[in-house]
Amino acid sequence: MAITTQTLVSPLDLVIFGGAGDLSFRKLLPALYMAHLHGRLALDARIIAIGRQRWTHDEYTAFIDSHSPAFIEESAFNASDWRNFLARLNYVCMDALQADDYTQLGALCSEPAVRVFYLATAPSLFARICANLSGAGLVDAQARVVLEKPLGTDLASARAINTEVARYFGEQQIYRIDHYLGKETVQNLMVLRFGNAIYEPLWRAPYIKSVQITVAETVGVGSRAGFYDGAGAMRDMVQNHLLQLLCIVAMEPPISLDADDVRDEKLKVLRSLKKMELTDIKRDTVRGQYAAGASEGAAVKGYLEEDNVPPDSRTETFVALRAHINNARWANVPFFLRTGKRLQKRQSEIIIEFADQPFSIFGAVANHEPNRLIISQQPDESIQLGMMVKEPGSGMTLHPVKLSLDLQSSSDKRRAEAYERLLIDVIKGRLTHFMRRDELEAAWMWVEPILDGWKVLDDKPRRYSAGSWGPAASSALMAREDLSWFEEA
Ligand code: BG6
Repeated sequence: MAITTQTLVSPLDLVIFGGAGDLSFRKLLPALYMAHLHGRLALDARIIAIGRQRWTHDEYTAFIDSHSPAFIEESAFNASDWRNFLARLNYVCMDALQADDYTQLGALCSEPAVRVFYLATAPSLFARICANLSGAGLVDAQARVVLEKPLGTDLASARAINTEVARYFGEQQIYRIDHYLGKETVQNLMVLRFGNAIYEPLWRAPYIKSVQITVAETVGVGSRAGFYDGAGAMRDMVQNHLLQLLCIVAMEPPISLDADDVRDEKLKVLRSLKKMELTDIKRDTVRGQYAAGASEGAAVKGYLEEDNVPPDSRTETFVALRAHINNARWANVPFFLRTGKRLQKRQSEIIIEFADQPFSIFGAVANHEPNRLIISQQPDESIQLGMMVKEPGSGMTLHPVKLSLDLQSSSDKRRAEAYERLLIDVIKGRLTHFMRRDELEAAWMWVEPILDGWKVLDDKPRRYSAGSWGPAASSALMAREDLSWFEEA
């Protein structure tokens, strides 16, 4: 076990509601195991899982033992550390909506400790869980609550949840999680922008011509249709992950890394997003839904054939759109956002396309490419800068090359997964990489008119074959401005 020298928070009770759910066994417990393995949890820190399954402690541990190791990197898994980790687990079978059921939890958490309540449940339960925790005397000044996304399905429901939770927890105790903010490469974006003097003078109009943000997935809806069909790609991905990426690309330098300084700047970006009217929605947004096709070499079903998807569903599994930020830095620079399931490649990247030279002494160059900064987050973590150089030989022929930085091999240090990093932030009381209430609501304020507009326009998602890059209209959205998505360039 590699022990860190940082101060560990102790005593600590980490209480997970939805302790037997997908998120817990796939992400949270593997992340906590990694934290345990690397000495980032105090020896007396306890993990208390809450679930409705009538399991004994041993049955719960057996469930985690059979489900979670598959989600832990093989090289990090070893039987003895895993056994020690399992010994930290406690299981409480209860109905989180029943106030009377909190007696056992109250008894278990009767000693003073930093208490973190992680609500890995449907958002409709958040308010009542918080009320019950408070009723059971479990919310003190040190307590924290972590709210998983999606936080609501529209502005009104997000506001209602925020208002209810705020009755029991102060804003400084509320951690609204967006796991993209825990990714190493996303955090690195801030360092790239604000830790390197060369970018700042160029990071604006007119030196930047366009920005593309793509989060493409190869997976389909899987077993999540129950949730996903009511959400769609706009609520599931754009409202949170893609807008957060956009904020980090577009924000002004914060005055410090303190949570509110960073969040103030992100909020300004969200508030500067140009509201879309019906004509903009029609012209600048594309919704898609995957049809049968092939994904990573295997035939796959279309969305409508997936389990538990209504045969006439109009839910979008793909969104591409053009956004504008109405401020001095970004005037007239289009931001193209795109995300979808069952696309050709798992790829998450940000492309900053710089403006053309005002005048070229080389005349018209056949294979001229604009300078592009390519920040890849998935599957590779890398930064590339596309440049033109001279082709060897006589004459002055230009050809495009890339300066390439592989972030994975640039340091020997371990790169923690997003959930591990964010859980440690919660434990340590660091809010910088979590969304503040006004930020979340501002994101809904921009997204909601688009969702409403699609309804008014009776917009049916365009079909695209699984394994493609989405509907043709997505390429057309770029082509209209003489631009193209990076992989089509
Ligand atoms: C989640 C969405 O928030 O992010 C999922 O609900 C999506 O639909 C996932 O698959 C993508 O996360 P990552 O880290 O795999 O890019």
